[in-house]
Amino acid sequence: MQYLNSIIEAVGNTPLVKINNLAKDVKGIVLAKVEYLNPGNSVKDRMAIKMVEDAEKAGLLKPGGTIIEGTSGNTGMGLALAAIAKGYRCIFTMSDKQSKEKMDILRAVGAEVVVCPTNVSPEDPRSYYSVARRLNAEIPNSFYPNQYDNMSNTAAHYETTGPEIWRDTAGKITHFAAGVGTGGTMCGSAKFLKEQNPNVVSVGIDTYGSVFKKYKETGIFDENEIYPYMTEGIGEDILPKNVDFSVIDSFVKVTDKDAAIMTRRLAKEEGLFVGWSCGSAMAGALEYAKANLKEGDVMVVILPDHGTRYLGKVYNNQWMEDHGFLENREFSTARDLIAARNTDYKMQFAKKGETVASAVKKMQEIGISQIPVMDSDQVIGSINDNEILALLLDNPLVAHEAVEIHMSKAFKFVGLDNTIDVLSGHLKENRALLVHDLDGKIHTITQADILAALAL
Ligand SMILES: Cc1ncc(COP(=O)(O)O)c(C=O)c1O
Repeated sequence: MQYLNSIIEAVGNTPLVKINNLAKDVKGIVLAKVEYLNPGNSVKDRMAIKMVEDAEKAGLLKPGGTIIEGTSGNTGMGLALAAIAKGYRCIFTMSDKQSKEKMDILRAVGAEVVVCPTNVSPEDPRSYYSVARRLNAEIPNSFYPNQYDNMSNTAAHYETTGPEIWRDTAGKITHFAAGVGTGGTMCGSAKFLKEQNPNVVSVGIDTYGSVFKKYKETGIFDENEIYPYMTEGIGEDILPKNVDFSVIDSFVKVTDKDAAIMTRRLAKEEGLFVGWSCGSAMAGALEYAKANLKEGDVMVVILPDHGTRYLGKVYNNQWMEDHGFLENREFSTARDLIAARNTDYKMQFAKKGETVASAVKKMQEIGISQIPVMDSDQVIGSINDNEILALLLDNPLVAHEAVEIHMSKAFKFVGLDNTIDVLSGHLKENRALLVHDLDGKIHTITQADILAALAL
């Protein structure tokens, strides 16, 4: 039999997946390390288990103990899985900017969650750092892993993430990019990779509103750099011990908006349904890669977590619009075009057996230049005014003949999710396009629809 003794043995050995569409303009190749394939759906499983096991070895966590941590959700999930496997209780403090989904997920795996205000300084007794410390002091036999300053965090990545990347790229990695929150992922992996090959370049991804980039570049901890931002998991207003600036060569900062847009593109264009900070990591990594990678270079980018936790945020169109994150670059789709139509929309068409004259009259009445030809519910062809005109000039009697004798090829069917830039491309070779709505009703899409969507 082949089985794992508990779910935590499934952590690690995540795949590298080539980025195709998004990295088209990059010389060399860009590979994503897809950490949502860990059982807790994030990179944090690795260090959570390591922190628990190291604490057991050091006698800091004893049977029946309670694990208390300030976590943005993912570390909590890893700790909760370790706690279930090993029989501990978990209490997590979280800031109220974290998504509700993240809190619900932690409660689902048996943890108690304490929600704390975001916009207070870390020293404030109400901050999620302070509340975690206080609970640790108050609850007997409790262990506070403190992912920020616990070096088991970096060690987990030094022992697993780094070696996996080295093994899976057969030592060909030239660039490594990862978001920096506690710093464990970046610094543990980069330290290992640089020990194998000192020429590996590491690029840390930071957010606007965080202190890391300026600190790396100037050595100054600038309080003016700190302001609230929304991306979850990366950037800090403190300098955690796990951030070892000596193994990070440079930082790229990414805005909440650019991260959100890139997150959605990762899902749509690469099939990687990932979390918001994955958009930050990829946006920053691609910006760096476009400017710096050469033919033959291999960049590995860590994508830390899964998209489900962000369904109410970056994957929600209304939320994106409310935050000013949707823009023209995000084209509408065939679905949007037909959704804007009246519910009593009926596609105009010519029936098999109908005369050419009758079909022309129909087109003139509704002011369109082409219509499909249908045989019961099947689209069998199309007619358009230019071609019919040429035929009639040749032989006026054609007007009394059946449309199917003179029809052209049927319009192309497209999917509901095709964006209007793609539809416009198809319309170069097709006078109109057809799409089935969710009720199976057929709609025609023409150049006029695209123009209206873009200009009106
Ligand atoms: C979603 C997400 N992305 C990125 C990170 C950053 O990883 P690290 O804390 O190892 O720097 C975290 C850390 O909390 C995270 O939760």
